[in-house]
Amino acid sequence: MTDLDLMRLAEQAREKAYAPYSGFRVGAALLSKTGRVYLGCNIENAAYTPTNCAERTAFFKAVSEGERNFEAIAIVGGQGDSISRLCAPCGVCRQVMVEFCSPDFRVLLGNCEQLQATTLGELLPLSFSPKNLREREADNDENV
Ligand code: THU
Repeated sequence: MTDLDLMRLAEQAREKAYAPYSGFRVGAALLSKTGRVYLGCNIENAAYTPTNCAERTAFFKAVSEGERNFEAIAIVGGQGDSISRLCAPCGVCRQVMVEFCSPDFRVLLGNCEQLQATTLGELLPLSFSPKNLREREADNDENV
């Protein structure tokens, strides 16, 4: 699975976007360490706040299928039929990534013509992660 293959799959996932309110359509393709790919699109809602981003759709599909280890995600987004030069993941999605991925998790942005690779560590430095809670448990154990 090349970066370009994953980006192509994100573009396909975007076709399923349900975005009648913003018109901004996003697709994501998430590659697990077992080599499987989970696709996601944004799913909007008339009440607005229940809206789910494409990235989280892909993550929640994967985790609900038993996957917890991930290699990379490709993300494409844009208004209507056009794909933007760059659609960076929102803060909530970055936090969901941190729950399951290490800082070297690769995040592929852009589109099939102009692909830009970054990492989760670059997108969300100094993050609050499951490690923080484990540290606290360890501190508590020491005090018992
Ligand atoms: N959106 C995503 O799906 N992923 C992102 O990374 C940014 C935003 C969606 C949410 C909403 O449906 C629309 O794009 C406009 O914010």
